[in-house]
Amino acid sequence: MMGEAEKNIAAAARALEAGKLVAFPTETVYGIGGDATSDAAVAAIYAAKGRPPFNPLIVHMCSLTEAKKYVDVTPLAENLAAEFWPGPLTLVMNRKKSCTLSLLVSAGLNSVAVRVPAHPIARRLLEECKLPIAAPSANRSGRVSPTTAAHVKGELAGEVAMILDGGACEVGLESTVVDATGEVPVILRPGSITREMLEAVAGRVEMAGVGDPIKSPGMLERHYAPNATLRLHAKDVQKNEALLAFGKPLAGHAIMENLSPSANLEEAAANLFAMLRRLDATGAKQIAIMEIPEKGIGLAINDRLQRAAKLT
Ligand code: TXA
Ligand code: MG
Repeated sequence: MMGEAEKNIAAAARALEAGKLVAFPTETVYGIGGDATSDAAVAAIYAAKGRPPFNPLIVHMCSLTEAKKYVDVTPLAENLAAEFWPGPLTLVMNRKKSCTLSLLVSAGLNSVAVRVPAHPIARRLLEECKLPIAAPSANRSGRVSPTTAAHVKGELAGEVAMILDGGACEVGLESTVVDATGEVPVILRPGSITREMLEAVAGRVEMAGVGDPIKSPGMLERHYAPNATLRLHAKDVQKNEALLAFGKPLAGHAIMENLSPSANLEEAAANLFAMLRRLDATGAKQIAIMEIPEKGIGLAINDRLQRAAKLT
């Protein structure tokens, strides 16, 4: 997993310290990172992605102790962090008065989304630069998230000083985002840390209402979108459609990718974005997507597919 990237970690840390942007792997997807305490670096991230200014960024840190320097860690956040950090869980917490993170990472809110990633390259990078790193997924705003270094290179090569290559991301879907400012966790974005897993630690868990613009500002847009249109819950394959299968493929396809021949949801999550990109690259005008069970990480897969299928 390390290899070539390891040699480049020190150079990447120096680039971040100098205010430049660096793309790096996490266990979920690749991020495009910059110094979270620098307005200029954070502004450069928004510009590189073409990201709307009302959509706040996740700040990556190396530990809960580090997070406590910047945000009010509620007892709920403390419990969730103890169970799931490092890992694919992002906790939204309120800024401390003394918080030195750029206000731009919060996009006008009083809160910051913090995540302590588990990927060894991300961890080494955070330790090496001793900076909190603001890092959204390393794709142009609204497009499919990158799960390999090649995906990042194709879209953002000109915008970053370096791309650390850690191979394919293990999880393949972005982190679960949870508002942990209150007593009950609210899921703002589903992910591989499932509602059931959160309930096991926190008891009651709520889901953010669709279109709650204050709680989940980034969740309104069309997102994860390929060029092809998507047809969800397909029970057949129409002429000129490519097929994205799950389990036993539907008959009648000319072009197909299979998220998981054995109908394993974790495998499907890890394959989702790369397969959407590959089917898109065939030039197919429409992709028929088979039903994905609405359980466990399947909720997160369906969340991404529904937003990718939106036409506006
Ligand atoms: O797995 C991930 O989370 C990846 C890797 C790179 O860590 N990052 C990622 O970042 O997916 P991004 O920017 O693509 O998604 C961040 C999500 C958006 O939906 C955004 O609206 C939400 O987190 N968010 C960020 N700060 C927030 C805040 N203060 N309050 C509520 N939602 C917030
Ligand atoms: Mg994103």
